[in-house]
Amino acid sequence: MAVLASWVWVLAGCFCAAVAEVSDSSDPYPPLWEDSPEQLSDYMMEDGNYIINPWVYTDRMGMYRILLEETAMYFAKYGPENEQNLLWGLPLQFGWQYQSGRLADPTGMTDCGNELNESLCVSVDSWWADINYYLSVIPFLAAVDSGITGISPNQITILPPPKDQMRFCYNVSDCQSAVPGTMNRWRDFFQYMQLNSSDFDGLLNYLWEAHASSLDYPTSAFGDRTKSWYHSNFLVILTEIQDHYL
Ligand SMILES: *[C@@H]1O[C@H](CO)[C@@H](O)[C@H](O)[C@H]1NC(C)=O
Ligand SMILES: *[C@@H]1O[C@H](CO)[C@@H](O)[C@H](O)[C@H]1NC(C)=O
Ligand SMILES: *[C@@H]1O[C@H](CO)[C@@H](O)[C@H](O)[C@H]1NC(C)=O
Repeated sequence: MAVLASWVWVLAGCFCAAVAEVSDSSDPYPPLWEDSPEQLSDYMMEDGNYIINPWVYTDRMGMYRILLEETAMYFAKYGPENEQNLLWGLPLQFGWQYQSGRLADPTGMTDCGNELNESLCVSVDSWWADINYYLSVIPFLAAVDSGITGISPNQITILPPPKDQMRFCYNVSDCQSAVPGTMNRWRDFFQYMQLNSSDFDGLLNYLWEAHASSLDYPTSAFGDRTKSWYHSNFLVILTEIQDHYL
């Protein structure tokens, strides 16, 4: 990781402040990690389907928690306690967005994310939340479709936001037609991960491809004011995790 670390720091430039905010905390986990579902059965169930509302912070975080849990065995050979799981960057970044108020309604038209009783609300008016949708729901659906969770994708129901429903996709077939390239890249990552012959550099490459692809559609559809920031921040956090444990 030493080689990666040096070019990442150059690329990342002055974005270290964001990381400091994350890593200064003595708790290495994202906010409310323990309150988020750690298995599918922690979600509400209806007609045999797990109901996930990605517009609730802990529900969205739960998808990451389950992904981390279900992929732990593939990273066990790189370090103890799932420390080397490359997917940690995603929940840490999402947690930072929550902590810094970026998931709240920036228009002030609703209480979403702004009032104490609405604090778990993830606003569809938050650019960060919209972009992150493609880095949470899409990888999760691709993972389910790749057999990572051992259930059929038809057993997952992703709830739409209160408005702008057309901006998002909600199940494997829907997302496969909306963002085929991104679904394929994430599926490639999860399938490669399950190969006996997979290695850390390969995983990193597949993850990078998938991550970049996840940003393509939403940054063109919702504006790409900080696409490069999003890239760099991801890498900084990733590097931070690596450096922390090596
Ligand atoms: C949430 O808090 C706001 C402001 O205190 C209040 O007006 C609103 O009725 C509360 N909503 C619920 C569902 O309790
Ligand atoms: C997937 O989502 C689309 C759009 O929301 C819907 O029309 C379709 O019935 C869903 N398919 C399944 C299998 O749930
Ligand atoms: C992968 O490795 C496991 C354990 O070493 C072995 O049992 C299994 O047959 C291997 N699978 C393939 C496809 O080589």
